Amino acid sequence: MEEQHPDFKVIAIGVSVAAALYILIRNTHSGPNLDFVPAVGSSGSLASYFGAFRYVFHAKEMFQEGYLKYPATFFRIPIVDRWSVLVSGKQLIEDIANAREEELSFHKSTNEFLQTRYTLGRGCERDPYHPAVIRTSLTRNVGQRFPDLRDEIVCSLADLIPQSDDWTPVAAYDTMLQVICRTSNRFFVGLPLCRDPDYLALMNSVAMDVVVKAQLINFLPAFLRPTFGPWIASLNTNMRRAQKHLTPLVAERLKKMEELGKDWPGKPNDLITWLMDAAQGDELTLDALVQRVIFVNFAAIRTSTDTFVHLLFDLAAYPSYIQPLREEVETVVTAEGWTKTAVGKMHKIDSFLRESQRMHGIGTQSLGRKVVKPNGFTFSDGTTLPSGTYLHATTWCLHHDPELYPDPHIFDGFRFDKLRQAEETGAAKYQSVTTSLDYLAFGHGIHSCPGRHMAATELKAIVAHIVLNYDIKLADGEDRPANQYVASACLPHATAKVFFRKRQS
Ligand code: HEM
Repeated sequence: MEEQHPDFKVIAIGVSVAAALYILIRNTHSGPNLDFVPAVGSSGSLASYFGAFRYVFHAKEMFQEGYLKYPATFFRIPIVDRWSVLVSGKQLIEDIANAREEELSFHKSTNEFLQTRYTLGRGCERDPYHPAVIRTSLTRNVGQRFPDLRDEIVCSLADLIPQSDDWTPVAAYDTMLQVICRTSNRFFVGLPLCRDPDYLALMNSVAMDVVVKAQLINFLPAFLRPTFGPWIASLNTNMRRAQKHLTPLVAERLKKMEELGKDWPGKPNDLITWLMDAAQGDELTLDALVQRVIFVNFAAIRTSTDTFVHLLFDLAAYPSYIQPLREEVETVVTAEGWTKTAVGKMHKIDSFLRESQRMHGIGTQSLGRKVVKPNGFTFSDGTTLPSGTYLHATTWCLHHDPELYPDPHIFDGFRFDKLRQAEETGAAKYQSVTTSLDYLAFGHGIHSCPGRHMAATELKAIVAHIVLNYDIKLADGEDRPANQYVASACLPHATAKVFFRKRQS
C-alpha cells in the first residue's frame, strides 16, 4: 500500500473528532447568511457536514465542480464549522487582489487559519511588519548575498547527496527540506547557526507542524482554544529552543545598536538586521525578534520545500528536459559566473519552475481573505458578501482551465519560455515571479508573496546545481509520485525516492 503523508493521519483523526463534536453541539453552520450563494453539494445542515468531510480529501474536485457549474462568479463549499466562498471570475479575483485590508482582511483570515497567537506568537498576530521587510530589504539583498546562498547550496548538496557513480536512492522530501532550511537560514542568520543541527531541526519542525497544529486548534470550539491552544502548539517550548540559539546573536546586536546607534559600522547584512531596522516599540526586543525569525522561517521553508520537491519529481519524471536545462546553465554560467543576474537569465529553468507551480501549486486555492468591512464587501459585479465571510480564489481550476492553458493536464516544462519568446512583453509577463489573474501560485495584488524573488532565485539555483552535477531518475518503471491533496493543500509525496548519481556525460 502507498505510504501516506504524516499530515494525513493527524488531520483525519482531528477532522473525525471535531466533526462529531460539532454535530453534537450544533446542527447548522455558523457565520453570516450566504443562502444566496450557490452551494457545491447539498446546502442542508446535516448534508453539509458530509460535504465538509468530502472537503478534507476532495477539495480539488469540489472546486472544479463549482468552477464548471458557476463560471466567473461565486459558489460556496462547506468546511467543518462554516462556509467558504470560492471566487471563480477573473474580474472578481482582481477585486480581491486590490481590496484594502480594512475591507477584505488577509491577516484576519491567515491568523485564524494559522491560529497565530498560539502557534507563532501574539506579536506576530498583532503587528505584521515583516512582509514589508521581506518585500524591501530582504529582496534587495538577494543579489548581494547570492554568493552565500550559492555556497550553502553547494555545501548542503555535497553533504546530503553522494557524488557516486552508482545510482543512490534519496528521500526527496526530507533531503530537500534540509537543503532549503540550510540555504534559507544562511541568508537569514548566517554561519555557523545555519548549520546547527538543533536549530535546523527546530525550524523544520515549525515549518512542518504549525499548519497541522493550527487545524487541531481550529477544530476546537472557540471557548476551549485559550486552554488547549498553547498546549497543542508548544509555542513556549519552541521559543525556549530558539532563544538558546538566537539570543546571543540578537542580544549582541541590540547592545551594539544602543551603544553605537542604528547604523553601527560592520553590522551584518542579514534578516536579524533588516528586522531590527524596521521593528518599533515592543517589537524591538529580544523575544519579539526571536519570534519573528521563527515566523519568517515558517513562511519560507515549507512553501519553498513543497514547491521544490514538486519540481524535482517533474524533473525526474520527464528526464528529456535535463539536457536542455544543463546546456542553458553551462552557457549562462560560462558567460556570467554564478550570480543572481546569471540565474535570472536561465529562462528555461524559470519556465520549468513556473509550469511545475502551475500544475502542482502548493495551494489549490489562494488569496484567502475575510470580509471585515461592517456592511459587507461589494464586488464589481454588484454582489455583496456580508461581513464575516471567508473567501478564496479558485487557483487550481484557473491553472487547469483549457481556455487559459492549452492541454492543461500535460506538463510542458518550456510552455512559458515559448510564450516568452513569442511575445514582445513576454520576458516579464511569463517569469516565475510575475503574478497575474491567470497565475496565482504566489497570490496576486496587495498581499502577493513578498518572498517570491528570494524563493525563485534560491530554487532555480538549486535546480541549476543539480542538473550540472548529477543525473537523476525515478525508480525504473515508476511514474511521478502522486500528489496528496489534503483540504486545500497539494502536498508532494512525502516519502518517495529520487535516484541520483554523479553526472556521467
Ligand atoms: C515557492 C515558495 C513560496 C510560495 C509558493 C509562496 C506562496 C505564497 C502565497 C500564495 C501567499 C499569499 C498571497 C496572497 O494571498 O495574495 C504568500 C504570502 C506570503 N509569503 Fe510566500 N511563498 C513562498 C515563499 C516565501 C518565502 C521564501 C518567504 C519569506 C522569505 C515568504 C513570505 C511570505 C509572507 C510574509 C507572506 C504574507 C504577505 C502579506 O502579509 O502581505 N514566502 N506566499
